[in-house]
Amino acid sequence: MGTGSKRYSNESVDTILLGSETIRRRVCELGVQISNDYRGKNPHLIGILKGASIFHADLVRAISLESSFDFIAVGSYGDLTKSSGEVRILKDLDDSLEGKEVLLVEDIIDTGLTLHYLLRNLQSRNPKSLKIVALLNKPSRREIEVPVEYVGFDIPDEFVVGYGLDYAQRYRNLPDICLLPNCSTKWG
Ligand code: IMP
Ligand code: MG
Repeated sequence: MGTGSKRYSNESVDTILLGSETIRRRVCELGVQISNDYRGKNPHLIGILKGASIFHADLVRAISLESSFDFIAVGSYGDLTKSSGEVRILKDLDDSLEGKEVLLVEDIIDTGLTLHYLLRNLQSRNPKSLKIVALLNKPSRREIEVPVEYVGFDIPDEFVVGYGLDYAQRYRNLPDICLLPNCSTKWG
């Protein structure tokens, strides 16, 4: 089923922006690119919970290098709909980053505030390198510049759900990335 078609019985999930096959192909490409760029190294892939969990699971399997992984969970002090930029760590990493080739795996970069905070925090733990891979990027929403090494897709300023992304904890298990009508205005 292609982009733009309706597929879910749930009325609030409207249009497919990126179908599961399109996502699968792009994640494979990112895996090949990362495998080439990190040849001879062992990347340490940190997934940002919960949104990046599905992307992380697919990406690590598309990377043909011995790698390790860890997870971090963060929350914003803002309300449901708007990132305040004040980030707190809800679940910290299990392992030290000292001397590791760290790749931070994020679902989507919106304002950039979350990643800006996390980069500064993780950099202080002395990794050998620290780069970001984000499945989705909304460049028009950026409030603060964040260096992103790998991006899956640039998307317009629309609120999306599925493939790990939620609205109020719903829709994470949709295999496609879908538009949620009116949610970009709810987001702020
Ligand atoms: P930022 O700090 O504004 O860059 O916010 C990034 C976080 O906001 C992401 O990790 C997501 O959890 C959430 N977010 C931003 N845009 C969307 C969206 O369209 N759908 C679902 N979550 C989003
Ligand atoms: Mg997130």
